[in-house]
Amino acid sequence: MFIKEILLASANPHKIEELEQILMPLGIALKSTRDFPDGEEVDEDQPSLEGNALKKARYWHQKTGLPSLSDDTGLEVDVLSGAPGVYSARYAGKNASYLQNTEKLLHEINGQNNRSAQFRTVIAFVEGKGREHLFEGICRGTIISEPRGDKGFGYDPVFVPNGYKQTFAELLSEEKNRISHRGRALQKFAEFLG
Ligand code: IMP
Repeated sequence: MFIKEILLASANPHKIEELEQILMPLGIALKSTRDFPDGEEVDEDQPSLEGNALKKARYWHQKTGLPSLSDDTGLEVDVLSGAPGVYSARYAGKNASYLQNTEKLLHEINGQNNRSAQFRTVIAFVEGKGREHLFEGICRGTIISEPRGDKGFGYDPVFVPNGYKQTFAELLSEEKNRISHRGRALQKFAEFLG
């Protein structure tokens, strides 16, 4: 497949940089929603990560005609039957802070012995003629009861990936990106591009 340019359905500088590092060696240029200021905010109202990722990628592909990539991530806690999942960003309510979401999570699983959880990222890629592809990355771990570390974002201070003693918020970003849900989904996407 010959691709010259990809649009990332995000304006998040960290996501732009992470994807640029993958695409640059392949000679693929990256555009983001910043290059299309008249684009609309896509409402992430679907009941699954797959649904939201596809909705955003489809919108941007239709708008720009470019192969478009979008991702959606959730923290899925076993004892909460996969919650907060697709609602991770607004677990404690609309506009809730990372801290409020994390506090709600700790409250919900307070006293539980089973603290297993996973981060799951779904990448949707809509390319020429609207062909659609999904790539999934999972990182399993444990939710601890006292937040630790000041790196990262979101639920990082309470998530210890399997095989590690540190939380995501205590690991260097290079190490987190190597083993994380997003990192793993991006590796699959990079393999697909060849
Ligand atoms: P998004 O789909 O990347 O916007 O992620 C949705 C929500 O999941 C974020 O608002 C965070 O609360 C959480 N989240 C996503 N990725 C991570 C991560 O790597 N560490 C901690 N929390 C994350």
